[in-house]
Amino acid sequence: MYVCLCHGVTDRQIRQAAEEGCRSMRQLGKEMGVGRQCGRCASTAREILRECQTEE
Ligand code: FES
Repeated sequence: MYVCLCHGVTDRQIRQAAEEGCRSMRQLGKEMGVGRQCGRCASTAREILRECQTEE
């Protein structure tokens, strides 16, 4: 599923980034551009990041 359409980033890619140590939206934005354009993906992306952190 695409989370960020502006940058073509999927939920799987966000999970992977989280596994590799990405902890914040700021970091995610820097690495993949998520949330940097229209911002519509930000809340979903944040949720996925949070999910990944509670799974640890
Ligand atoms: Fe992610 Fe637009 S959908 S910045």
